[in-house]
Amino acid sequence: MMKDEEELVTEHFAGWASTYEEDIAKMVERDWGVKYEDFVKLIMEPCKLRLCMRILDAATGTGLISISIARMLSGNCKILGIDITDAMLDKAKANIRAESLGDAISLKKASAENIPSDDNTYDLVVCSLALHHMNVRRALREFVRVLKPGGRIVVADVCAPEGWRTLYGKVGVAIYRFLFMRKKESKAEAKSELYTRKEWEAMVAEFGGTESQSNEFFNKNNEWAPGVIITSWIQN
Ligand SMILES: C[S@@+](CC[C@H](N)C(=O)[O-])C[C@H]1O[C@@H](n2cnc3c(N)ncnc32)[C@H](O)[C@@H]1O
Repeated sequence: MMKDEEELVTEHFAGWASTYEEDIAKMVERDWGVKYEDFVKLIMEPCKLRLCMRILDAATGTGLISISIARMLSGNCKILGIDITDAMLDKAKANIRAESLGDAISLKKASAENIPSDDNTYDLVVCSLALHHMNVRRALREFVRVLKPGGRIVVADVCAPEGWRTLYGKVGVAIYRFLFMRKKESKAEAKSELYTRKEWEAMVAEFGGTESQSNEFFNKNNEWAPGVIITSWIQN
């Protein structure tokens, strides 16, 4: 991500941090028809959690995914949560303290495109609702670098409906981007690059992932609205 793009994203999330948790739960249910608790369970399932796992939560935000994992493992794990937005990390710190999970989860301000960890460190890299704000290939290269061979990557991200790749869809998306990029509050989202399920599957194959699985949810009332995809794979 270029410096000005990173600033746009951090500004967006700095402004959203105080209401993020309430808002995201409502959005997931309203836009994708899944209760937030069920959405988190769907992310947990392909993580294949085991005691003592080392886990990277890339773009941890307010720490919701790290906390769910640590709770499921009764604190018997080592999670590093990284994020580029101070206000989100401050909330994460408070949430982790409130749950007494400080021994299991540590936090660092860092970009998922430049992860401050050695090669072959983690059994699992999880990244929820954040990759569309990044240079996806650069971040995935980092996930692969820090993951142990045979480790898992689990990504949940906003995704594009196949219709966006038709001529009609391309024109519509271009107009949408033009209109929304002009509004400061929606610029960070409008700028983001969204992939279809097929494009995600091709990307996983490009990175040498195996045993990939995807689950996607779209807005039943609007076939043009972005959906969400949960994709997981094993990295050899
Ligand atoms: C929608 S929130 C998702 C937070 C959390 N993963 C969740 O599921 O609730 C997106 C987060 O991605 C973070 N983010 C965006 N680009 C990032 C990057 N390059 N590296 C690390 N974090 C990033 C933002 O600061 C924000 O906290």
